[in-house]
Amino acid sequence: MENERPLAIITGASTGIGYELAVLAAKGGHDLIIAADEPKIFDVAETLRGFGARVDVVETDLSTVSGNNHVYEAIQGRRIELLCANAGRGLGRSFLEQDFEAIRHVVETNVTGTLYLIHKIGNLMREQQSGKILITGSIAGFIPGTYQAVYNGTKALLDSFSIALRAELKGTGVTVTNLMPGPTDTEFFRRADLLDTKFAVSEKQAADEVARIGYEAVMRGEAQVVAGWKNKLQTVVAGLTPATLLAEQHRAQAAPGSGNGRSKSAAP
Ligand SMILES: NC(=O)c1ccc[n+]([C@@H]2O[C@H](COP(=O)([O-])OP(=O)(O)OC[C@H]3O[C@@H](n4cnc5c(N)ncnc54)[C@H](OP(=O)(O)O)[C@@H]3O)[C@@H](O)[C@H]2O)c1
Repeated sequence: MENERPLAIITGASTGIGYELAVLAAKGGHDLIIAADEPKIFDVAETLRGFGARVDVVETDLSTVSGNNHVYEAIQGRRIELLCANAGRGLGRSFLEQDFEAIRHVVETNVTGTLYLIHKIGNLMREQQSGKILITGSIAGFIPGTYQAVYNGTKALLDSFSIALRAELKGTGVTVTNLMPGPTDTEFFRRADLLDTKFAVSEKQAADEVARIGYEAVMRGEAQVVAGWKNKLQTVVAGLTPATLLAEQHRAQAAPGSGNGRSKSAAP
C-alpha cells in the first residue's frame, strides 16, 4: 500500500523498556505490532494509537513457538522495518531452589522464543533486503550471575548471538543491534523475585532513557550499545576481571536479603 507507515514489531511492549521502545517507534511514524502475555497490552495499544499509529495487539506467551507464530501472523504481508526482540524475564535466588518450570520459562522466553521470532522475521527481512533488528541483551551477559545464574546465561547467549547474526547478515541490508542495559527501573525486579536484593535498592536508569539509547542505535544501524557510562565502565572492568571474582561480586548484589528488605523502586 502506498501511504503505509513503516511497520515495527515490539515484544514485551506492555511495560518497562519495551513500552518505551513502542512509544518511540509510534512517535517515529511507525505502525506497530505489540506483544505481551497479559491483558495490559490492550491499554498500551490505546495509548500508542494516540500517536497516530495503527496498532495490532498480540496477547500471547512468547516462550512458545505458537505464541511467536501469532506475532508473525499479525504481519499480514506487510514490509517490516523494525523488530525489537525485547521480551524477557529475570529469575533470582539460587539455582537449586528455583522452581524448574520458572527456569524453563526464562530460557524459553529469553532464548528459544526470541531466537525463533528473529529466525522467522530475519528471513522476511533478508527477502526484503532491508530491516533493522534490536535485541535487548544485558550487561548481565558479561557476568556469571550468582543467584541469577540462568538469567545471566540467557543474556550472555543473546549478547554473543546478536553480534554473530549481524556479521552473517552483512551486505544483505539487514542490521542487528544489541542493546545492553544495566539495572533499569522497571517491573523486572519484582517479577524476578529480586526485591530483597541490593540490585533492587540500587540506583537504576529510567526505562525511557534506556529505550532512547537503544532506539537511536538501531535506527543508526549500530552493532551494540551499552546504556549509560556507568554500565559501560562496568563492562570494561568485567572484561579484565576473573570470572570467579565477578561471580562473587554478583553474589553481593543478588543474594536474597542483601537489600535488607529496602526497595527503592520497582514497587509492585
Ligand atoms: N530492568 C533491568 O534492569 C534490565 C536490565 C538489562 C536487561 N533487561 C532486559 O530488558 C527487557 C525488558 O525488560 P524490562 O526491564 O522492561 O522488564 P518488564 O517491565 O518486566 O517488561 C518485560 C516485558 O516482557 C514481556 N514478557 C515477559 N515474558 C513474556 C512472555 N513469556 N510472553 C510474552 N511477553 C512476555 C512482559 O509482558 P507481560 O507483562 O504481559 O508479562 C513485559 O511486557 C528484558 O529482556 C530484560 O531481560 C532489563
